[in-house]
Amino acid sequence: MCGIIGFTGQREASPILVDGLKRLEYRGYDSAGLITGTGGKLHLRKKAGRIAELAKEVASNPAPGHYGISHTRWATHGAATDTNAHPHTSTCGSIAVVHNGVIENYQTLKHQLQADGVEFVSETDTEVLAHLIRHYYNGDLLQAVKATVELVKGTYGLAVMCRQEPGVLVGARLGSPLVIGLGPDGNYLASDANALSGYADKVVYLNDRQICQLDGESWVIRNMDFDTVDVPVEDIRHYLGDFEAEKGEYEHFMLKEIYEQPDTIANAMRGRLDDASATAHFGGLNLTPQQLRSTERIIMTACGTSYHAGLVGEYLFEELARMPVEVEYASELRYRNPPMDQKTIVLCLTQSGETADTLAALKEAKRMGHPTLAICNVVGSSIAREADGGIYLHAGPEIGVASTKAFTSQATVLAMLALFYGRMRHLSAVQGQRIIEELRALPDIIRKTLQCHDHVKKLANRYGDMHNCLYLGRQYLYPTALEGALKLKEISYIHAEGYPAAEMKHGPIALVDADTPSVFLVPRGNVFDKVMSNMQEIKARGGPVIAVCSEGDREVASIADDFITVPDVPDYLQPIVCSIPLQLFAYEVAVLRGCDVDKPRNLAKSVTVE
Ligand code: AGP
Repeated sequence: MCGIIGFTGQREASPILVDGLKRLEYRGYDSAGLITGTGGKLHLRKKAGRIAELAKEVASNPAPGHYGISHTRWATHGAATDTNAHPHTSTCGSIAVVHNGVIENYQTLKHQLQADGVEFVSETDTEVLAHLIRHYYNGDLLQAVKATVELVKGTYGLAVMCRQEPGVLVGARLGSPLVIGLGPDGNYLASDANALSGYADKVVYLNDRQICQLDGESWVIRNMDFDTVDVPVEDIRHYLGDFEAEKGEYEHFMLKEIYEQPDTIANAMRGRLDDASATAHFGGLNLTPQQLRSTERIIMTACGTSYHAGLVGEYLFEELARMPVEVEYASELRYRNPPMDQKTIVLCLTQSGETADTLAALKEAKRMGHPTLAICNVVGSSIAREADGGIYLHAGPEIGVASTKAFTSQATVLAMLALFYGRMRHLSAVQGQRIIEELRALPDIIRKTLQCHDHVKKLANRYGDMHNCLYLGRQYLYPTALEGALKLKEISYIHAEGYPAAEMKHGPIALVDADTPSVFLVPRGNVFDKVMSNMQEIKARGGPVIAVCSEGDREVASIADDFITVPDVPDYLQPIVCSIPLQLFAYEVAVLRGCDVDKPRNLAKSVTVE
């Protein structure tokens, strides 16, 4: 996901801009740039590659001035080149813009501008905005930006500045987050409050179809009728995760976040397990007891790892709440039109709260009048603000692009929500209390599970040169298999597929050979014998088997080529426990292969484009 930082105030802008970009680095990008203004001139510096490249450029060729904007770009239109990097400027160089989002009608706008003689230098959609703002500029930058965004179809989070209005920054938001930061040394614009930690004390979040203007001392937000709107000024600490977004003694953020999971799972449950009523409760559902009691169906929608958490949720709700659940990829749901009655609740799952497809699916559900909930990790994110109510994960910033602690926290929250619904319907107090005790035991069980790390590292060394890998599990461990495969493929670039264990007979078994390991999730549980049979079928065809199994399981150990043991838990908690060794396996294989574990190629931490 691209990142935006702007500053205007009493200090040199470029060091603040570069430092702010570094805090957004984890989101994934492929180029970076900044522009500052002083003495009626603008100073543009931008480079493909890492922010370190940009910092070197600025060190050797300073960009002076007390106001500026900057950007990390994750390429959508046009390759990752210096020219395509943001900021983009008008032909005369007097207007500069950085942009998050996608201008869907940029070709039409570009052709109109070219017909007027405008020459384009980049392949991006964003450059259109710079020329349009220049076209409409007549001494009022805010008005020029308003006139421009009224022509735009698509999404944008914008920061704009110009030579003629020193110290002035203008912002606009539709579908891509933008926040004003207020600090002692000046004011800021950013796509994420975390980038302003240590600089701003207060934040003001723009809503969709709002524009803003700020300088070092003042700020104003207007709607598209140009009326001033009152938006709450909030303490930035409300939006900063309580986990330090630093690696500490860990080599990578991903490893740190894997090891945080005993604490983040405890945080997900903190204050939400109610012994007196043998249920769970949540402060922010914002749905009436009648709405909750009358829920007859839940549609969960998400992308990627969050989608896999939703699949775990489907099994949880069926077992604990006896409720029908459908899990839909958000990118599919937003264009389908499934029959949904008024007793259907749409539940979005998202770590970042900014995934474009999930946000769009949520808006579509709201448009149809359905109650909407969001299970989300980032406080104040677009999806958290758009949903009627929700549940925060409280997992702290997840910096590694590969999601780990968010997955286990989502599964934990879904177990509690299923308990909540189950206790409204058929679960007895005794059953509810048993579930509470099993959930409370999780942090220590995860702490114990992490002890498999050294052994997993050995297996990574043994299998690290594989080119394909199957992940197989049944019931709750089928979504876990999907998630394990996603972890491996997204950080080690090895092709991996997750499948229901029984399904591999219907095709994938043709892939099995001595060079294609199969990871079986086969702890003791309701379908243990069935999965053992599937393991035998793979072994009979010469496929290596790595088993994740219960401690002391000699039967599995006698068949599998290698195995990783995990503590026994009830079936419904096995996705949380069994995903730990899979996360570690993917991590160690990726490290072995020299991959960029925290920022894998082509990936962004939050995909804010369709
Ligand atoms: C997971 O490891 C990936 N980084 C990706 O699939 C991610 O889960 C997906 O983009 C959804 O992101 P969200 O949870 O922030 O909505």
